[in-house]
Amino acid sequence: MSAHDLLYLVPTTVPPKVVRGDGVYVYTDDNKKILDGTGGAAVSSLGHGNREVIEYIKNQAGKVCYVHNMAFTNEPAEELAHMLVSRNPDVFARAYFANSGSEAVESAIKFALQYWQLRGEHERTHFVSRKQSYHGNTLFSLGIGKMISRRAPYEGVFPKVTSFVDPCYTYRHKKENETDEQYVYRLEKQLEDEFLVVGPNRIAAFIAETVPGAGLGCTPPVDGYFKAVRRLCDKFGILLILDEVMCGLGRTGTFHAWEQEGITPDIQTNAKTLAAGYQPISSVLVGHRVFKTFEESGTQLANFHTYQAHPLACSAAVGVQKIMARENLVQKVASTGKYLEEQLHKTFDSHPHVGDIRGRGLFWGLEFVKDKKSKQWFDPKHKVGALISKVGIKNGLFLNPGAGTYDGVHGDHLMVAPPYVITKEEVDTLISILAKSIDEAIASLPN
Ligand SMILES: Cc1ncc(COP(=O)(O)O)c(C=O)c1O
Repeated sequence: MSAHDLLYLVPTTVPPKVVRGDGVYVYTDDNKKILDGTGGAAVSSLGHGNREVIEYIKNQAGKVCYVHNMAFTNEPAEELAHMLVSRNPDVFARAYFANSGSEAVESAIKFALQYWQLRGEHERTHFVSRKQSYHGNTLFSLGIGKMISRRAPYEGVFPKVTSFVDPCYTYRHKKENETDEQYVYRLEKQLEDEFLVVGPNRIAAFIAETVPGAGLGCTPPVDGYFKAVRRLCDKFGILLILDEVMCGLGRTGTFHAWEQEGITPDIQTNAKTLAAGYQPISSVLVGHRVFKTFEESGTQLANFHTYQAHPLACSAAVGVQKIMARENLVQKVASTGKYLEEQLHKTFDSHPHVGDIRGRGLFWGLEFVKDKKSKQWFDPKHKVGALISKVGIKNGLFLNPGAGTYDGVHGDHLMVAPPYVITKEEVDTLISILAKSIDEAIASLPN
């Protein structure tokens, strides 16, 4: 067997091979122990090797592994849908399950489009999104986001039905002496202007990550921002899609991230921690407004996938969500998150190259700068986030890096999004390896 038949992210670079996982640690074939500080891509909320979840999957595998969802339903899918919908019965009417976050976003987009078609508003095909947002890697989901580095090879082929406004990004966009209210007002005005320029009757939906992850590095909105967004969407009848693929299902210290914003979405996507990486699965939660139109029309959904509502994937998610509820893991995220926040501030507030520390729950971002006072970024060619991440792996810590934080090209960040089960002692270990790795990586840069 050749070690190099697999197409790697960097085709000429073979990454370390992980052979087992246990709790917050993964182990490579050369016996290196690595603290999984972002649980992969903010996925492994229960940590690795949870025997109980594995039993759920084994149990279901003994019954049936696959059914064709165009003709049949299955028990774990029904149970999972009930768990999610019955949590917020006033908000959501139905749950739909796909395999990845990108598929969930594509499905949410298609549900929005079909909703408007069924209502006879055929002009509503435009989407307003936000800069530096990431909504997935299939062509449409990539095109509806604005992570310039990931879009670059495909610019020119994206559908021209999306426009972009500024995200809520306090560190770099909120002016000195500007109050939160004034900042929100400025963003609200910009969004309303965009709605009016496009023509509100042409807009299907506004889509946003409630707390942006990959592109912006865990930037929570300021108070009142999403209330203003909801108000504007309601004013023009535009649907609000919240993409909580990364920030949802407990990650920010509440089950849904929007619970901290005092608003509700019309359609919502989730993925990563739904089955915590034990199986690939994502969900779209469809609100009453949209579902009522589907129900009244009696038509078939114009969206389906071979592996949607997959029994094994759903069984893993049922297991994960039951454990989450039984162990009060959302509360644990909030309390361990407080500890992580304190330790991040204690260790890095005075660090000359950590410009900003922001986040919620167990979803934190560190933005790196060459000069703290002027907020000058490092030269993008040094890929500082990726460099720190690489040094971190050498030192026994994995953290997900990001680049182009400021404008898609400049700015670097790292995400700290550990498993929900991380202990305070493990947080201490994470912080100490991170501190060492930042210093080592930055010291290796040319002057
Ligand atoms: C907010 C958001 N939406 C969508 C996606 C795409 O998910 P996937 O990589 O599972 O397709 C991601 C992935 O990081 C994400 O963070």
